Amino acid sequence: MPQNTHIKKPATDSFAEASAEAKAHSEQLKTQIVQAIEHSEGKISFANYMNLALYAPGLGYYSAGLKKFGRQGDFITAPEISPLFSQCLAIQCNHIMQQSGQQILLEIGAGSGIMAIDMMLELERHNSLPEQYLILELSAELIDRQQSAIKARLPHLYERFTWLNRLPEKPFKGIIIANELLDAMPVHLLKLQAGKVSERFVALDPQQNFIWQDDAPSDVRLEKIAADIQTQHQTLDTLNDMPQRAYITEVNLLAMDWLKSIADILQAGAVLLVDYGYTAKEYYHPQRYMGTLMCHYQHHRHDDPFYLPGMQDITSHVNFSQVAQTAIEAGMKVCGFTTQAHFLMAGGLVELTRDLDPDDVLQFTETARQIKMLTLPEEMGELFKVILLAKGKPLSLPAFQFQDFSHRL
Ligand SMILES: C[S@@+](CC[C@H](N)C(=O)[O-])C[C@H]1O[C@@H](n2cnc3c(N)ncnc32)[C@H](O)[C@@H]1O
Repeated sequence: MPQNTHIKKPATDSFAEASAEAKAHSEQLKTQIVQAIEHSEGKISFANYMNLALYAPGLGYYSAGLKKFGRQGDFITAPEISPLFSQCLAIQCNHIMQQSGQQILLEIGAGSGIMAIDMMLELERHNSLPEQYLILELSAELIDRQQSAIKARLPHLYERFTWLNRLPEKPFKGIIIANELLDAMPVHLLKLQAGKVSERFVALDPQQNFIWQDDAPSDVRLEKIAADIQTQHQTLDTLNDMPQRAYITEVNLLAMDWLKSIADILQAGAVLLVDYGYTAKEYYHPQRYMGTLMCHYQHHRHDDPFYLPGMQDITSHVNFSQVAQTAIEAGMKVCGFTTQAHFLMAGGLVELTRDLDPDDVLQFTETARQIKMLTLPEEMGELFKVILLAKGKPLSLPAFQFQDFSHRL
C-alpha cells in the first residue's frame, strides 16, 4: 500500500529472486523500450516509458499475466482487503441511481473483479440492481480473470455484465466508478532547480541502461503547471533557502485528458473516484521535493522505476485539485471530496457492521482488522480520498455529509 514517505530501493537480495522466466520477460520489454527510445531521437518522456512498462501489449506489468493484486501479488487494494469497501460504494451508487435515475454502472480498471462482485451482491440485497454493469479494462489477462470470477460468484447476474475496450460512445448516461485508476496512469516528470524548469526524459547510456535526461518540457501544460508550482513555492518562500536542491514532481496529463473525454461522453450521471493523493497545496509542497513516484514489487516499496520493467508496478499519487479543476473546466460539478475513512464511516460502514456477532470471535476480529486497514489514518483512511463529480443534476450523498473537504481543493 502506498505511503507518504519516499522509500529507497531495498537491496535486491531482500526481494525473492526473480525467476529466469520473469527476467527474460523483463528483458524482452526492455528491448522494446530501448527500440522506442532509439526511434525517438534518443529519449522518450517518462510518461511514455511508464506507459510501456505498465501497458505494452503482452509484456507490460498490467498487460501480462502476472498476479498483481492481493497477498501473493505486489500490492493490495481496498476491495481486496474487505467487501465492506465495495458494499459502502454500492450503497452510495444506489443513492446516485435514486437521485439521477441512471441505471448503468461503468467500472474502469476493475482489477480482479472483486469490487464488481461485492457491489452487485450489495445492490441485489437492496433490490436495486442496475440494468447493466459495464467494465472497461485494458488488460486481456485481467478481463479473463474478471469474467471467470463473476461467472463463478454471480452466475445469475452474469448477463448484466458487458466488457468494453474503450469508453462508450457519446452520449452516455450512467455512473462511472474507479478505484485506484488514476494512480496507474502514466505521468510526466517535472524538475525545478535554481529557477530553471525542465522535464525528465528517459534515455540510454552506452551500455543501453536507462538513464535520466533533462530537457525543455514537451507540453505547454507542463510549463503552466511549473509556473504555478514556482508561485506556490515563492509564496512559502522556501526555495530561496534551498536554491540548489532539485525539486522533482509528477504531472498526470493523461488523467486530465481522460477526465475531459469522460465529461464529453457523459450526458448525465456521476463519476466516483477513489485513490491516494492530495490537494495541490499538499501535492506540490516544497518538502515533497522527490515527488510521489513509487514502485511496488513483492510488497516492497522503492523508488527505482527502471528496476525490472514489466515486473513491478509504477504509480504516483493523485492531485485531486487538478482532477476537480479539469472536471469543472470540462462542464462537470464537484459534489463531494473527502477522505476514505469519512466516506466509509458516513457511507454505510456503521450500519453494515451493526449485526456482527461479538461471540463469533474469528469473524469479529477479522472484520475489525479490515475496518482498521480501511479507515485508520496511518493505514488507508486519510491518504485515500473519494471525489464525486456530476454532470446534469447536482448530487448529495450521505457519505460526504460527515466531512466534505471540497473547499480545500
Ligand atoms: C492499481 S489497479 C486497480 C485495480 C482495481 N480497481 C482494484 O482496486 O483492485 C489499476 C487498474 O487500472 C487499469 N487502467 C489503467 N489505465 C486505464 C485506462 N486508461 N482505462 C482503463 N483501465 C485502466 C489497469 O489495467 C488496472 O486494472
